[in-house]
Amino acid sequence: MTLAAPISLIEAIEQVEHTLTDAEVFLGHGTDNPWDEAVFLVLGATGRPLHTDAESGADQLTQDECQQIDQWLLKRCVDRLPLPYIAGRVWFAGLEFICDQRALVPRSPIAQLIENQFSPWWREVASPKILDLCCGGGSLGILSALAFPNASVVLADIDTDALALARENVQLHNLADRVELIESDVLSSIPDTLFDVIICNPPYVDSTDMEALPIEYRHEPSQALASGSDGLDFTRLLLAQLPRVMHASTIVVLELGNSWEHFEALFPQTALIWLEFEHGGWGVCVLTLDEVEELGRQLR
Ligand SMILES: C[S@@+](CC[C@H](N)C(=O)[O-])C[C@H]1O[C@@H](n2cnc3c(N)ncnc32)[C@H](O)[C@@H]1O
Repeated sequence: MTLAAPISLIEAIEQVEHTLTDAEVFLGHGTDNPWDEAVFLVLGATGRPLHTDAESGADQLTQDECQQIDQWLLKRCVDRLPLPYIAGRVWFAGLEFICDQRALVPRSPIAQLIENQFSPWWREVASPKILDLCCGGGSLGILSALAFPNASVVLADIDTDALALARENVQLHNLADRVELIESDVLSSIPDTLFDVIICNPPYVDSTDMEALPIEYRHEPSQALASGSDGLDFTRLLLAQLPRVMHASTIVVLELGNSWEHFEALFPQTALIWLEFEHGGWGVCVLTLDEVEELGRQLR
């Protein structure tokens, strides 16, 4: 598609929507329909804020802006890059984060639980210690630090590139005094601290789903997605290591996506709690220390 001035903002969005639809881009990185994707693309490419009134028709684009939109469209429709990687930024749970191919594009439904202060699964304590294990670009831990102003938060990941991005996001949100970053393979480098809340959105895609991934997801680090034939290689290691950093009231919020069924099948005698989300998402469970120990015993 080649956009040409004179064209209004709303006309440009309509044309971009058609192009995205015709190209059958896969949506799953922040939007769930081509109209919203087109709005984000056009506003982002032209440097307009997200609250811009696109409908007025009075806003005319320059030729330079049309060319910029074309370049972004090319990356989106031909290279199949997720839009946040093109923009270098993503809006997630009402906050802006730096976003690039060093880490997964944030989309975890755990953000909704953080917004609700982990209610009803956890009651806030005076100075909570929160661990975001497998932090990627750091969004969930940063959201937790902002939801709990007295919390100290550890962001941990095995990937130094992801941690570098997380550090930039910690600085963006001025949280360096309360948020620590640790390079760690599962919990191996986490000190003997008892956390009050442990959030973990680990790699959990099973090998069947990995083979069927739309191209958009193949731009994300595979280490952030793949976890063996049943998607639970990481989770097995995690269950064995967790008790060391938990106390009797700690909750673990663990995301397993499509692999939740494999997880349930491993533990037929245990009733697990799977959360329901108002704004979409599935495959997230909440575990206590007793449950983690019980599941660990069943795995041995
Ligand atoms: C699904 S991504 C989640 C990123 C982020 N929490 C989010 O929600 O956007 C999984 C993350 O786990 C990290 N990871 C993979 N294997 C790991 C391991 N053995 N120990 C620690 N982190 C690991 C990856 O580097 C990746 O950043």
